[in-house]
Amino acid sequence: MYYSISIFIHYLGIGILITSILGGFIVHNSYRKSSNITEQLIFLKILRPIGLLGPIGLGIMLISGIGNLMFLGFASQDVISQRWLMEKLFMFFLVLIIGLYSGIRSKKRATLIEQIISGNENTKIEKQKFDKISNTFLIIQTILLLAILFRSAVK
Ligand code: HEM
Repeated sequence: MYYSISIFIHYLGIGILITSILGGFIVHNSYRKSSNITEQLIFLKILRPIGLLGPIGLGIMLISGIGNLMFLGFASQDVISQRWLMEKLFMFFLVLIIGLYSGIRSKKRATLIEQIISGNENTKIEKQKFDKISNTFLIIQTILLLAILFRSAVK
């Protein structure tokens, strides 16, 4: 019973993560298509709560994942001996680190846009660099999430 609840929460977390990534792609695509800087700032503000779903989803995955391990009766040496789990945890922490890093960069990009709007054109090149790398981050996160899902299904 407890395991069923824990795995149910695990599935909810997956839903939240997929929402965050798909929402991120959709809004970021509109951001990239827009040539109006004020409009771009609005898109970035919309992206913020969508991006926040990422760490919330990852937190749920970690807590419910530990729950799954406990209710399945895993001891710490079982965790190390399970290759699928070690690979999954490695990719999980990679997603977490990349997510935190891109969250910080996204905040910085909003500041750069605000500076451009207030007349400081010097920050334009730096903003363009941020734009390019943000899409790459989203693609990397998608690949990692799919790899984690695959490794969870194929043990
Ligand atoms: C993005 C992160 C994660 C995703 C997408 C994910 C995905 C999944 C999926 C789809 C399953 C169901 C597999 C099945 O029904 O057989 C599962 C089960 C499980 N997950 Fe995760 N997971 C993630 C993170 C974690 C973490 C961080 C842990 C450990 C701390 C964890 C531990 C487990 C365990 C123990 C099971 C049960 C395996 C079993 O029933 O044999 N997961 N996960």
